[in-house]
Amino acid sequence: MANNIIRCIAALCVLFAVFACDHQDLPAKTAKLYVYNPELRGGLCVAIDTDSVPTRLGQLFTSDYGPWGQEKRMYAPHLLPLKKGGYAAAFQVNDFTPTFAVVYSDDMTTWRPQDYPEMSTQGCLAPVVREERNGDITVIYVTPDGNYRKTTSSDKMRHFSPDVTATQEEYDAAKPTLEQLQIGDKTYDVQVVYTDSAHLAHVIDYYAAIDHDNKLWKEKLSDDSRLMPLFPDGKAEATLTIHGNKRKAISDKLIGIFFEDISYAADGGLYAELIENRDFEYCEADHKDWTATTSWSSKSDIRIATDNPLHENNPHYALLSRGNVIVNDGWDGISLTAGDNYDFSLWARNADSEEPSQVTVSLLNAKGAAVATTTLSIDSQDWKQYEAVLTASSAVKGGKLSVSVDKAKGDVAMDMISLFPQNTFRGHKNGLRADLAQTLADLQPKFIRFPGGCMSHGQGLDNMYHWHHTVGPLHERKPDMNIWHYHQTRGLGFYEYFLYCEDIGAEPLPVLPAAVPCQNSAANDRGYAGQQGGLPMEELDQYCEELCNLIEWANGDPATNEWAKMRADAGHPEPFNMKYLGIGNEDLISTAFEERCLYIGRYIKERYPEIILVGTAGPFHNPSSDYIEGWRFANEHRDLFELIDEHYYESVGWFLHNRDYYDNYPRTSAKVYLGEYAAREGKGNIGCALAEAMHLTGIERNGDIVEMTSYAPLLMRYGHSNWSPDMIYFDNDKIQLTPSYHTQRLFSVYGGNTYVESELAADSITSARVATSVVVDSKTGSTFLKVVNILPVPLQLTLAPRDLLLGASLTYEGFEGKPNDATTETHTGEYPVVMDSPLTITLPPYALRAIKLK
Ligand code: AHR
Repeated sequence: MANNIIRCIAALCVLFAVFACDHQDLPAKTAKLYVYNPELRGGLCVAIDTDSVPTRLGQLFTSDYGPWGQEKRMYAPHLLPLKKGGYAAAFQVNDFTPTFAVVYSDDMTTWRPQDYPEMSTQGCLAPVVREERNGDITVIYVTPDGNYRKTTSSDKMRHFSPDVTATQEEYDAAKPTLEQLQIGDKTYDVQVVYTDSAHLAHVIDYYAAIDHDNKLWKEKLSDDSRLMPLFPDGKAEATLTIHGNKRKAISDKLIGIFFEDISYAADGGLYAELIENRDFEYCEADHKDWTATTSWSSKSDIRIATDNPLHENNPHYALLSRGNVIVNDGWDGISLTAGDNYDFSLWARNADSEEPSQVTVSLLNAKGAAVATTTLSIDSQDWKQYEAVLTASSAVKGGKLSVSVDKAKGDVAMDMISLFPQNTFRGHKNGLRADLAQTLADLQPKFIRFPGGCMSHGQGLDNMYHWHHTVGPLHERKPDMNIWHYHQTRGLGFYEYFLYCEDIGAEPLPVLPAAVPCQNSAANDRGYAGQQGGLPMEELDQYCEELCNLIEWANGDPATNEWAKMRADAGHPEPFNMKYLGIGNEDLISTAFEERCLYIGRYIKERYPEIILVGTAGPFHNPSSDYIEGWRFANEHRDLFELIDEHYYESVGWFLHNRDYYDNYPRTSAKVYLGEYAAREGKGNIGCALAEAMHLTGIERNGDIVEMTSYAPLLMRYGHSNWSPDMIYFDNDKIQLTPSYHTQRLFSVYGGNTYVESELAADSITSARVATSVVVDSKTGSTFLKVVNILPVPLQLTLAPRDLLLGASLTYEGFEGKPNDATTETHTGEYPVVMDSPLTITLPPYALRAIKLK
């Protein structure tokens, strides 16, 4: 279990604390370790002699530089054990970037997240590490033209001096001697590193614990037939004692949702706009095959112009002359409901003549026949918005919209061609798709995190999400490429997100970049990929002001603040009452990140101490380096970050073996926001949903330290998947709920704010696969028991309540099925209660029940 690793790390810390105090008595370093890089993406590995045979132990770290696919490579690594304790390593990332990677460890097993200091030459080859007499660390590298340069750090490789010329002699003296050694069935260049036997034993233990955990995490429910002989009666039995008077307060916001614009979740998804590429702003940056006319067709060429645009943020528009017809395909077609009204609008101007032109707009069915038509007179040479309501005479699937010019002298310029159903969620203009928005509302989420994860911190510095580009009149909003390889109109912007939160009673939790983009970003024009060094520090004040403006926009007084006035002008004079702000999304917790995050945190907290800042602990769980450093950093700045956002997508086996994940979290640290998690198997199934349910029982038990959770990702439009599994799949006409959706809804609807202790008595295999949790919702006085049965046999559970009176009958809601079932439905039922006799309930195999005890 992960706890093995935690124990191992703790032991190492003690060991190194002792060494640090007393290093003159350090034990002799006679134990040999081999470090080597088996392949470019194989990371730096460690091996030892086992019975004189070199044997791989595990991986120290892998390259985290740049985008997946092209980068994440490691060339010529050098690891240097430091005389004063600790290990410094450097490696080349490619041959054209002005950086190399540096990474530091106190103990050789837990490595700090990597840093990529910017150097003066494009291409920093084969860097080597040298320890100076005063403990400073110098990195010397070779330039592509064969010269040598060096740079020095006096803070364990956090910061480096500007690089200067070095000599070949210096380089050669620092260069490691490599030996050729066979490890397994291959021969590698290895560097020999010496340590003492106690340290070696700990390194061995560490990797043994990792191996052990990895084996456990491979457990699969599809192998469960092996469990059947353990249940000769064909059922499992257990008793649950509920201690009605042993209670603790827990968070009342445990279940929320994380909305990311991924897999067409926003445009073409929750945002009800029916026209794709309404702004003619699609381009190659969005997607390699896209142009301004993507999703539009015409018998003639569609002319795109940029002079005298509707707005500088929307530079492209279409030019049509008499007889031209353009047709939009919508999002994989347009679906219309017979008799429903649709709001059509476009911006247009007569480009060449004062004479009005005439435009016909039609909704077409799949065969091309019109089911609604209207004509508009374009009567201005200035951009002006024209509107019409179209009523569909029959239902349509796979429909289109056509716009034709019937009468015009010269060209008519058109932009922002839009069609919305009037039937949006709560009837808002520029609103949300009613069915999808209601499906999310049914989850009764206590908060919504938006607008995304990777989408928020962005593909490079220029693509970081700027909230103010997403508010104001639609044609003035700034569209941008989406890191998930499509286009964001920003029609679904911060105003719409906040309004939706308000509509459904969820706390808004915007998450914005920590002034660094996604660590997986492609190279910028300096050839610098990943976080690209982050926003220059001298631009941070301006960036912090942007975040402060958001707080004013959401909460400020329109009478005194221009941002708050924008909110009021948009139709919401009352404040939105924003309480939370996320800074950063699962970033690499590099030095560049920490400096910027700290600066932002201090800036905001000083001005708005009431805002709860949510920090981040990287993309993986314990013991990943970002997780460890993220929590260390957060706890060092407890005054700034009250919540830390954790992310993990894992196997069902991982969840089965980590149900105690939060049991030993210190209660004095920042609280946990588990912002992204899912059990991953194909497109999701009952096995995943039950594993998540088991995890959620552990989270309720730890609801005093875990404050919020949100499954991810939320939405995926069929045919446009960027990720799998997702909670909800949809197309224009249907919504497919996954079993994970049902788990989320049951834990939300049957949630509470007080945890009631209970204990399960059962044999070990039943205990390992059955999870329970009892909570009380003090607002309604209801007590709920959740029971998760992840066994291939029915579970007979006897309830033994102490100091707790059950209701006259117990109603429940739940689901069951086979682990691989991709869909299921919940159903309700009742367990009869017979006074003065033990109450035994039976759950089918692979089932979740949310039971109202009273
Ligand atoms: O949820 C999908 C992605 O997973 C998010 O964008 C990112 O934060 C995480 O890696």
